[in-house]
Amino acid sequence: MTMERTFSIIKPDATKRNITGKVVSMLEDGGLRVVAQKRIRMTKEQAEEFYGIHRDKPFFGGLVEFMISEPVIVQVLEGENAVERNREIMGATNPDNAVAGTIRKELALSIGENTVHGSDSVENAKTEISFFFSDMEIVG
Ligand code: CMP
Repeated sequence: MTMERTFSIIKPDATKRNITGKVVSMLEDGGLRVVAQKRIRMTKEQAEEFYGIHRDKPFFGGLVEFMISEPVIVQVLEGENAVERNREIMGATNPDNAVAGTIRKELALSIGENTVHGSDSVENAKTEISFFFSDMEIVG
């Protein structure tokens, strides 16, 4: 059993539609535990740095504008194989390709407004968690 932590964002399309509780329920029902969580308004600088790997992509500007358009909820999730488990619960980036029952299939509006972000590796999870949370804010 590998207990892990992963980083999650409930995105502006979800806070705007007031469906953040539904997202949390799906994460918890999937076996993950919320060990840190806060509602923030991301700054443009934070969004540009957080998504810096996509800086050269055509969707970068739109992605940043979307992420700062409404509040988001940043989270640390804990559980067995949490990185991979969270990716299963979220479903494919594009909701059209996501499996039924996943967050993105059931709730996402489009590939851009896709309701949740989750780390894609244990290494990136550590970086992303420390981008938004201090150790003291994570209570397992
Ligand atoms: P996320 O997991 O947060 O990581 C990068 C985000 O870019 C991704 O989810 C998508 O919401 C967003 N995005 C917007 N347009 C595209 C696109 N055409 N292809 C891939 N990702 C996109």
